[in-house]
Amino acid sequence: MNESKRIPAHVAIIMDGNGRWAEKHGKPRYEGHIEGVKSVKACIKAAARNGVRYLTLYAFSGENWGRPAEEVDALMGLFCQCVTEQTPELIEERVRVRLIGRRDRFSEQVNAHLERIERETAGGDRLTLILAFDYSSREEIARAARVLAERAAAGEIRPEDISEKAVSDSLYTAGIPDPDFIIRTSGECRLSNFLLWQASYAEMYFPQVLWPDFGQEEFDKALEEYAGRERRYGRL
Ligand code: IPE
Ligand code: IPE
Ligand code: MG
Repeated sequence: MNESKRIPAHVAIIMDGNGRWAEKHGKPRYEGHIEGVKSVKACIKAAARNGVRYLTLYAFSGENWGRPAEEVDALMGLFCQCVTEQTPELIEERVRVRLIGRRDRFSEQVNAHLERIERETAGGDRLTLILAFDYSSREEIARAARVLAERAAAGEIRPEDISEKAVSDSLYTAGIPDPDFIIRTSGECRLSNFLLWQASYAEMYFPQVLWPDFGQEEFDKALEEYAGRERRYGRL
């Protein structure tokens, strides 16, 4: 272990269990989301410290718009507040932020925050933090198919040029290596429309711990789990 320990280049996390954490503590759901922000900060630090190069966090799914308006508004507000508060530290820690997901359903104010954090952290070269916000994997794949079909119709590419690489390069995650390790907290064992294409050979880990209780120690424990996995890619 230690220097010889295998570190995943790309860790992706489905941050789940904020509502259950709040319920367990007799608090409104919103308090669970606020508490979850501490875990976000802890995991960014732990990822950078361990030499992880890409950290993707599933912050808001396309399906989460179906939650009550007050919860959606609270999540949007919290997201903007965090992004603004954290930007100086992210710049200092050389963390570059990239957003994946739709950009056409946010308010102008939310979009302005997203654009700002991407612009201001663009120089970060230590860790790329990918925030999946209004992200759904099937929408991403359908969008890629549309882009490729339009390019073929315009005569820019031929149908036979549509390779796996061409699809990957048309996703929101273009240029980002596939996740090596996907963690979902709170004991749920499903992907909930997260990185379906990219996850084809990812190792999966489903700890019971609720997201607000997932700190640096839990992150390190997850990396230990990954280090003990054997990846085979269909070979012997
Ligand atoms: C994850 O926690 C946060 C988001 C989906 C934004 P949940 O809000 O899904 O918490 P549970 O699953 O209800 O406990
Ligand atoms: C997945 O969690 C989305 C995020 C963590 C942002 P959900 O709590 O929305 O997923 P389901 O509904 O339990 O599958
Ligand atoms: Mg949930």
